Amino acid sequence: MGNIAHKKIVQGYYLKRARDYDRQKVRTWKSKHGFGAEILNEVIDALACLENKPLLEVGVGSGRIGFPLLKKVKPWFVGLDLSREMLKLARTRMSTYKQDFDLILGDAEHLPFINGVFNAIICISTMHYFAYPERSLKEFLQVLKEKGVFVYGDVTMHELDNKGFLDALERMLSKAHAKYYKSSEMKKLLENHGFRHSKVKVIPYRKSYLSLMKDKGKYFNVKPETLHECIKEATMNERKLYAINSDGLTLFYTLVTTLKENKP
Ligand SMILES: C[S@@+](CC[C@H](N)C(=O)[O-])C[C@H]1O[C@@H](n2cnc3c(N)ncnc32)[C@H](O)[C@@H]1O
Repeated sequence: MGNIAHKKIVQGYYLKRARDYDRQKVRTWKSKHGFGAEILNEVIDALACLENKPLLEVGVGSGRIGFPLLKKVKPWFVGLDLSREMLKLARTRMSTYKQDFDLILGDAEHLPFINGVFNAIICISTMHYFAYPERSLKEFLQVLKEKGVFVYGDVTMHELDNKGFLDALERMLSKAHAKYYKSSEMKKLLENHGFRHSKVKVIPYRKSYLSLMKDKGKYFNVKPETLHECIKEATMNERKLYAINSDGLTLFYTLVTTLKENKP
């Protein structure tokens, strides 16, 4: 499938998913922000000195993380997203801070900003939709200031998932999915693209099959039986890695905090 066709699928998915998105996240994380406190605190800590400084979130979605950042870090916040419907949600959620943010309909592979303008960029739960993450990373590097911070956060595969079980499961559930990485692979990818001094944090959490169907499968007409077939085919090793049982599995959320730095 071509890159543009894939982005259209992502847009179509979020056109339908937008109205359910926040409820889905709150259900998974059982918290009002739709995130584990550990994830939110880690991002806030990485961006602590950003008051009044420009911060870009690529894939801002419904503002699930933008809102607490505006409240706690107080940056000048720019959110970019491919989905008009998700941007509408973000605008409503962040409206109390309307002097302090801008929201832009756009694509991570073609950022509409001048070079070196942002003190920090975050990309949370979004890079697994990128068919060519290296293209976006080049863009991020360009619009980030020297020594600027980049925070990546996303679901990652277990380090010992050598056959890509989780990636295959996700691809079966969602046509919008492009690729899951291992934490170590993402760290390497970032380093190869000029992001250094990485700090990596991996946070496990449980996800039920019911949630996988409600959040992803149902938008692509996947039948519950197809998901269960896929789970049944997991090897003993994969069952152990993801603590697979009759209700669900353990997933891993990875945060990588890095700095833009030229090679010495
Ligand atoms: C799972 S949501 C994450 C939203 C938000 N960061 C959060 O953590 O709640 C992924 C978002 O990435 C957006 N997205 C996917 N591909 C994109 C691209 N190429 N450029 C910009 N946004 C993109 C989607 O439209 C969606 O709103």
